[in-house]
Amino acid sequence: MKQVGICGIGAAAPKKVLSNFDLERMVDTSDEWIVTRTGIRERRVLEKDEGILGYVVEAAEIARKQSGIAPEQIDFVISSTLSPDRVSPAQAFEVARELQANQAFCFDLNAACSGLMYGLATAESFLKTREIKYGLVTAGEQVSRFLDYNDRSTCILFGDGAAALMLTNDNPEHVILATELGANPNMSEEVVIGGVRHLLNNQPGDYYFRQNGKSVFRFAVSKIKELYETIPEKAGVRPEQIKYLIPHQANIRIIDAAAKEIASAGTEVIANVDRYGNTSSASIGLALHEVWGRFQKGDLILMVGFGAGLSWGGALIQW
Ligand code: UT7
Repeated sequence: MKQVGICGIGAAAPKKVLSNFDLERMVDTSDEWIVTRTGIRERRVLEKDEGILGYVVEAAEIARKQSGIAPEQIDFVISSTLSPDRVSPAQAFEVARELQANQAFCFDLNAACSGLMYGLATAESFLKTREIKYGLVTAGEQVSRFLDYNDRSTCILFGDGAAALMLTNDNPEHVILATELGANPNMSEEVVIGGVRHLLNNQPGDYYFRQNGKSVFRFAVSKIKELYETIPEKAGVRPEQIKYLIPHQANIRIIDAAAKEIASAGTEVIANVDRYGNTSSASIGLALHEVWGRFQKGDLILMVGFGAGLSWGGALIQW
């Protein structure tokens, strides 16, 4: 069976910073509450007249250049997003057009905050089973468009951003050792966002992001802990051998609680939620991109996503 791995990474985020102090002027909140309850200090958000596509393309182009392959060598583009500029054409077609990836098949995938992991696992399967060599997976989100900036319990949580991974089965240096995907659809009402349902029931507020924060919190902590055990086991390695754990960046308390339960001295848990907030499916990619330069040959890196669905997914990479 062919080995599949990462051969390029990119990330991009809007310039505009929305700080907790800015939010203090918009809703009844405080920097102190937000930092204590979430660890978020600021997030990037799109300007009113911007879309997310430009940032997805920027991230994808960085990943492509790093991989050293030409646009026409890209065999497919999978774009993870729950918040594209347009529903159709799917974001992936627009990314391919902008990159001039004219040989690629394209589609979008929505597994919410687990989306990059779903994209990675899907790309791995294509590259293992089809006569193709290179795939691009992007994750680009503008959840700020779905926030009610009068609702202090949700508008403080999210930011916008994009990330991209180039994957290959052609002697990859950074190999995927194992992936895992899962869902609990019985908890699908715990996190809801967007769509047209608010038009059907004439409830404009239903358009905005809503969640059962406490139940998602518990789910997230237990899922990170569980995947930290099960994914390494699939690859025949022990959890303590994981050098870096990169969880979805939703809340520093989730990350800290999971880190405490794991309590493995050899594993460093990566967090950048303080500067980006929750960027949904882009978050793991943004964090991976930030620490990319620190990895040494042989390091084991575990990425773990969770979110609406409820969904989860993870991938173990050997550097
Ligand atoms: O990507 C989707 C996945 N989502 C997640 O991973 C989210 C998981 N959950 C969480 O991160 C946390 O549940 C939250 C950060 C969303 C909320 O934290 P919490 O500790 O569960 O707070 P809470 O919702 O129980 O609110 C506690 C209090 C409430 O006041 P009362 O009812 O106790 O008087 C809220 O009204 O804090 C109040 N509150 C705020 N106060 C100041 C809620 N939001 C704010 C705010 N500023 N922004």
